[in-house]
Amino acid sequence: MLRQIHRIGPYRALYRTQHQAHRGFRSFTTTTQLAKQTPNSGSHGQTDDSIKIKYPSSQPSSTPTSDTTQTHSKPTLPSFSMADKTAIITGGARGLGLVMAQALMTSGANIAIVDLNESEAHKARTHLLETYHSQNPSSPPPTITAHHTDVSSESSVTSTLAAILSAHDTVDTLVTSAGFTENFAAHEYPIERIRALWAVNVDGTYLWASAVAKHLMEREAKGSMVFVGSMSGAIVNVPQPQAPYNASKAAVRHLAASLAVEWAGRGIRVNCLSPGYMATALTKKILEDKPALREKWTSLIPMGRMGNPEDLMGAVVYLASDASAYVTGAELRVDGGYTVT
Ligand SMILES: NC(=O)c1ccc[n+]([C@@H]2O[C@H](COP(=O)([O-])OP(=O)(O)OC[C@H]3O[C@@H](n4cnc5c(N)ncnc54)[C@H](O)[C@@H]3O)[C@@H](O)[C@H]2O)c1
Repeated sequence: MLRQIHRIGPYRALYRTQHQAHRGFRSFTTTTQLAKQTPNSGSHGQTDDSIKIKYPSSQPSSTPTSDTTQTHSKPTLPSFSMADKTAIITGGARGLGLVMAQALMTSGANIAIVDLNESEAHKARTHLLETYHSQNPSSPPPTITAHHTDVSSESSVTSTLAAILSAHDTVDTLVTSAGFTENFAAHEYPIERIRALWAVNVDGTYLWASAVAKHLMEREAKGSMVFVGSMSGAIVNVPQPQAPYNASKAAVRHLAASLAVEWAGRGIRVNCLSPGYMATALTKKILEDKPALREKWTSLIPMGRMGNPEDLMGAVVYLASDASAYVTGAELRVDGGYTVT
């Protein structure tokens, strides 16, 4: 009840309580009338136009997590293994993409990291190899390559995929983590910035998915794709305004469902992995300057904390591997329960 009061604001909560007690009385004050009585009405559930956050031009580096067990020392279902498979991770140089690449590597996959930031991609490759070696000193390392790509450019996607295939021969899995968010009130959001965001989040997902699908179809091979969406593709989180981002992630989610149906007969599965608020190096840096925003976010998460990038490791391996062989067109939300309240 307390939680509900917090989410919907005290006046509307009052209305609900009274409404429940007097259900059926037509003369009862309407929500709209009550909302007019206080300047604060609805404020817990509204966006705040004063929050403006541009995607920064330089970002902190990420490093692999140390939160994985030493090699495969514990028994697990063989269907979770990614051995003998090659996975492309777009946006894999940093943040969630890097941790998901690590999860797939730890489960046995060869990895192609593709990113706009080529030097970070190469650093990520080195870090992954060092991590693998420290955890498996006597095993031969997987093949890990790093490549430049601009996911929003078709020619860049085509040439990057060709470079990946010359290093890895075949590809089985695609994880699309390249994407970004920005916060502007909708009526002030410059259209060029919106187009740039959609080009990365939506076009970039589509271009990589269709390029990898063509490769799989030519080989008549099965494959699995995991599109990184967001809980914002299903709900409107507050208080930061981000309408174009939310719409882009709704597009990613439905693109996954649509392509899943289109390619089901070809043995290509497509699913959407939708994180909630995740504490990456970049989000941590942004929230350092905005402690009130962190508090507001955390207060709305039933599990009472932001996710760690590591919280996506099991989810991405599940969706990428044969463990999810009969799952396609699905959305898996990893959000601490945010979207079910
Ligand atoms: N961090 C979160 O809380 C959160 C929550 C929900 C969803 N997501 C989604 O997860 C994905 C990864 O987010 P993150 O937090 O790791 O972000 P990040 O900024 O740390 O990493 C994104 C990576 O994508 C790369 N990239 C950006 N534009 C590109 C382009 N045009 N071509 C190729 N690479 C490009 C960047 O260089 C960067 O390495 C995004 O799609 C994001 O929307 C993040």
